[in-house]
Amino acid sequence: AQAAQAQRIGPAAVAVAGRTAERLTIVYGSQTGNAKRIAEELVRRSEAAGLPVRLLRADAYPQRELAQERHLVLVISTQGDGEPPDDARGLFEFITGKRAPKLPALQFAVLGLGDSSYPQFCVIGRQLDARLAELGGTRFAALGEADVEIEAVAAPWTEQTLEQARELLKQAGVSARVTPLHAVPSRSSHSREQPFAATVLANQRIVARDSERDVRHIELSLEGSGLRYEPGDALGVWPRNPPALVDQWLDALRLDGAQEVTHQGRTLALRRWLEREREITRLNRPFVAALAAASGDDGLTRVLQKEHSAEFTALLAADQPIDLLRRHPATWPAEVLVAALRPLAPRLYSIASSPKAVGEEVHLTVAVVEYETYGSTHWGAASGLLAATDEDGKLPIFIEPNERFRLPADGARDIVMIGPGTGVAPFRAFVQERRESGATGRNWLFFGNRHFASDFLYQVEWQQALKDGSLHRLDLAFSRDAAHKTYVQQRLRERGAELHAWLKGGAHIYVCGDSTHMARDVHAALIDVIATHGDQSPDEAKAWLAELLQQGRYARDVY
Ligand code: 2AM
Repeated sequence: AQAAQAQRIGPAAVAVAGRTAERLTIVYGSQTGNAKRIAEELVRRSEAAGLPVRLLRADAYPQRELAQERHLVLVISTQGDGEPPDDARGLFEFITGKRAPKLPALQFAVLGLGDSSYPQFCVIGRQLDARLAELGGTRFAALGEADVEIEAVAAPWTEQTLEQARELLKQAGVSARVTPLHAVPSRSSHSREQPFAATVLANQRIVARDSERDVRHIELSLEGSGLRYEPGDALGVWPRNPPALVDQWLDALRLDGAQEVTHQGRTLALRRWLEREREITRLNRPFVAALAAASGDDGLTRVLQKEHSAEFTALLAADQPIDLLRRHPATWPAEVLVAALRPLAPRLYSIASSPKAVGEEVHLTVAVVEYETYGSTHWGAASGLLAATDEDGKLPIFIEPNERFRLPADGARDIVMIGPGTGVAPFRAFVQERRESGATGRNWLFFGNRHFASDFLYQVEWQQALKDGSLHRLDLAFSRDAAHKTYVQQRLRERGAELHAWLKGGAHIYVCGDSTHMARDVHAALIDVIATHGDQSPDEAKAWLAELLQQGRYARDVY
């Protein structure tokens, strides 16, 4: 039964050996793939050390086995506002809830991932760690709290956890095996660490000239990369900071870009560090703390204190690092500056194409981040690079699979897609895929943006799709064409009866786009629709939606 159980777990790599007591169970909850990557690395290392191990995505973990679990590792991220990732919601609620079993025989270790720019840093990892101990479990490694610079914490934590696990399993009488049980397969020689230099085939502005925003449709070639993707996956792009912004930094700091700087054993020109290696477009707590120290500014020191967290959040939203550097002059030795900045991280874009329709290409829908404050232009690191890369230029890319955001395996199922703004990207992929595969289920898209005339992304394609029968319903919400704002959730409510009928009939529902406001408001609207038209209490509606989320019938790709 154990083996059969493992077979059904699906896409996550699984290796099962022996009974519960004799193996290490590694469970991950991951929104953007980082926790998954760390968990897989731990599996690889455990297997190389000959330890019997199984790897499960949190929503595939059989909760009734928790009481028998002996050696459990959890790798789990915290979303911006202190929420678990969607795939771990069920397990999180089970462990922290009233029905959780006592766990006197459990040995466990938790690695939390998070972003210290947010006040709720790593809270999900912290809560699970505390709760497992409260239930009677014993930590075999201390809670790890990894910030955006993940490896700095994850690498030593993995090392220590592995060492302890080896000891524990030895005590439990497990002899190490020499041959690895299972290897996590790699689909291409290209990866996050070894990106593919993809050629830009097209780079078109797809909003009208008078639009307040710049949105690009970008097509890249994957030819010769061996990279494969599915609708729902994301494309990782390694960014490069705009040279003009680097100039502004060097000016503000009165530093010489040609000066050589050594950090963690690598020596590069300061300009190169700032352009290719460090984040200079995003503010975060460690940087503000370093600036407070360098400038001796009490005002900055004050906003870092807990009781001023609202002020700090406002600062993060309003300012880019360059603004602070100008407002709080300080003398930075170049080495200190480079050490205070985070390593440049890849940006993820939901893929806007299906390989069945575009072959060895990958398409993106990118909003270019560029805005004016304090009299200077601000750029986003990757979107600026994407917008500025013309045809034949190359970009370092990789595929980031998103197994939580998949079309129903059964093409006869209906789907409802909610994607305002560039959140529409994966739905272009979904509609292409369903057309090419001859899926018979109906497709319903809710799209919103600022203005009908200038911001109706892929208008011609949607109209074509309505005509050729690959899109069955299209509801639109343009927010700035009238005195009152209209958002997609208003359309959901207006179409509530029909929407509820689709859901009752087994439709899958997808949301893509902004997580802080849109996804939350859409979630509330869905609860309303289910309660009103399904004749349920708000709590029952909430529970049903939670169940759909758990089953993967309601999936979100939000950022
Ligand atoms: P706004 O900018 O006019 O407020 C894509 O960005 C679209 O999403 C825009 O029309 C934007 O409207 C809208 N939007 C902003 N906040 C939203 C929310 N909370 N829910 C749904 N749509 C929202």
